[in-house]
Order: sequence, then C-alpha cells, then structure tokens
Amino acid sequence: MAQNIEVMITEHDINDKIARLGMKISKEYEGKTVHLIGVLKGSVFFMCELAKHITVPVTMDFMMVSSYGKSMTSSGEVKIVKDLDEPIEGREVILVEDIVDSGNTLSVLRGVLEARKPSSFQVVTLLDKPDRREVEVKVEYSCFTVPDEFVVGYGLDFAQRYRNLPYIGIVKK
Ligand code: IMP
Ligand code: MG
Repeated sequence: MAQNIEVMITEHDINDKIARLGMKISKEYEGKTVHLIGVLKGSVFFMCELAKHITVPVTMDFMMVSSYGKSMTSSGEVKIVKDLDEPIEGREVILVEDIVDSGNTLSVLRGVLEARKPSSFQVVTLLDKPDRREVEVKVEYSCFTVPDEFVVGYGLDFAQRYRNLPYIGIVKK
C-alpha cells in the first residue's frame, strides 16, 4: 500500500512532539478539565495520542465538517455535517485539527464555537501548511509546519485511504 508514499515526518518525531504538547497542556490547565473537540475524521489519531499525554481530567466530543472530496484540491466550502453532542458554554475547549491548509475550515469552526461562549478556546493542529492560506486564522499551537505538498497518514487521507499510516508522508504523483 505504501510504496508510493515518501516519509516526511516519522512516527517517533510525531509522537514525541505530541507528548510534549500534552505536557504543556497539562501544566497550562492545572486544576481544570480540558474539553477536547476533534474534527472528524482526520484529527482522530492525533487526538487519541494527545489525550493519553494530558494528566488533567479530559472530556471529548467530535464534529464533522465537509471539506475535501476525492480530489487533492479544496472545494472552499465548509458545512457542519455532525455537530457536537454537548454544549461548550463555560468549558475549557481545545479544538484539535489535523491540518490547517486554506484556513477555511478553521475560520468557520472558530466563529461557530467561540460564539457558544466557552470559558476558554484554543486550537491545536498536528500540521500547518501556511503557504496555502486563503483566510487569516488564529492557531495557538501547531506541531509541525509542512510545505505545500499533499500529505497523508496519521489520520490524513487521500480519497479516504492512508489514514492508518503511523507517519506523515507525501503521495508521489
Ligand atoms: P482547510 O483548507 O484549511 O479548510 O483544510 C480543510 C481540511 O482539508 C483539513 O482538515 C484536511 O482534512 C484537508 N486537507 C488539507 N490539506 C490536506 C493534505 O495535505 N492532506 C490531506 N488532507 C488535507
Ligand atoms: Mg480535517
């Protein structure tokens, strides 16, 4: 399956970075409960690994938004396909993203979620691809900055494949 994938970030480097982010969050939110919100499906692997390294109490919820179809290019349209199960008012929310690319998804999610009045709100993303940004959007923490290449693995897909790769790689065209 992986013969046309070139490794960009190894599993070791990813997990090491996530462990350090988990420690940082644990210190920052001492005495509080962190409410992680994962954006399905891409953020699932990142969110699980991150949650294992947070030592303060953690609750979780998920949202799903429409993003890329089966092509490698963004549609630019963002729609909430699955909303949260629980209200977030008064909670310490951390939105967990797989990648911030054009910024369209995050900018919509930030607006929608901040309007629900969480007590605090921040965004952590596994990857940031700043060269492709179309809208300015605040990202509090990014594990890795990647160049303008289509990447897969660690939750990220190409036409729903490759999410289960334990590393981040580039699909060779
Ligand atoms: P946006 O362009 O910032 O709105 O990114 C929306 C979504 O597109 C991300 O959450 C990913 O699911 C997907 N995406 C963006 N770039 C890539 C990539 O390089 N590989 C796989 N999915 C991507
Ligand atoms: Mg996504």
